[in-house]
Amino acid sequence: MKEELSRLKSEAIESLQRISQASELEPFRVRFLGRKGGSLTGIMRRLSEVSKEDRPKLGQLANTVKEEITTLFEQKKKDLAQHSGTQTKKGLDLSLPGRRIPFGKLHPVTQVMEEMCAIFEGMGFAVAEGPDVETDHYNFEALNIPKHHPARDMHDTFYVSDSILLRTHTSPMQARIMETQDPPLRYIAPGKVYRCDSDITHTPMFVQVEGFLVDRDVSFADLKGVLTSFLQQIFTKDLAVRFRPSFFPFTEPSAEVDIACVICGGEGCRVCKRTGWIEILGAGLIDPEVMKMVGYDPDEYSGFAFGLGVERIAMLKYGINDIRLYYENDLRFLSQF
Ligand code: PHE
Repeated sequence: MKEELSRLKSEAIESLQRISQASELEPFRVRFLGRKGGSLTGIMRRLSEVSKEDRPKLGQLANTVKEEITTLFEQKKKDLAQHSGTQTKKGLDLSLPGRRIPFGKLHPVTQVMEEMCAIFEGMGFAVAEGPDVETDHYNFEALNIPKHHPARDMHDTFYVSDSILLRTHTSPMQARIMETQDPPLRYIAPGKVYRCDSDITHTPMFVQVEGFLVDRDVSFADLKGVLTSFLQQIFTKDLAVRFRPSFFPFTEPSAEVDIACVICGGEGCRVCKRTGWIEILGAGLIDPEVMKMVGYDPDEYSGFAFGLGVERIAMLKYGINDIRLYYENDLRFLSQF
């Protein structure tokens, strides 16, 4: 037992020397000095087994070892505490200027979206916002896209359940607003939309600004006037614009609107896929079927609608050639705008 005690002592001294962090102190204490299962306690418990003659001596020795280890342990504790104290005091230079708080700014897509809204507000449009998580009804059915209609293939939809989805466009806001209000109406609805698609001109989440107007005697000429005026204001120059016949189930007739690629000046590049044009919006006259579903009389009222891609417009405004840059969150990129 004598030997055991001296071995324990040197073991404890050795491992105490290796301790360099305050967090290592408690495991040491438990191992050597702990009341339950500590090595020293174990030895002391076995004192009853030794002969009566040896017991007092060994008991005394055990107590001395315990005291020595405890003293060394307390010393180590003090050392570590002091050491960490001086370190922080040394590292503090009170004469240094304070750290500046970096100022945040609006994301370029948000900036352009706000600019777009301001232009439409200038033309008398009111702003409305709707839910990103939308029902199949508003995203499709109310827009004349019934279940199993092939037009659903145009949207690579993220479904939440059979009847709930992430809206694939801002057009559900047409139905939501028309359902609750009577003409005349003039609204824009900006917001995020989601499609399972990703390349240099597509991201799975992007931002659209929907716009629509319903009144008596609204014609395609009104649509063309509003959009051309908008495009000239947002690009602040005479930019070539073309209307291409197209198809949307909720507009008739429908058009896709392209503007000349401002990255390459119409010569053809990666962004415009070598065509010289970039599609930035879909539009058309609101389909009579959509009017009927919200309880409007299509013989009395007509209207137009359009959906603009905000990232595309921001790309063209700032000469950005990869839409994914917006969402990589690299501050070196984002802080330029
Ligand atoms: N919702 C269509 C889309 O996202 C765009 C659109 C809006 C077309 C309004 C016509 C009228 O592709």
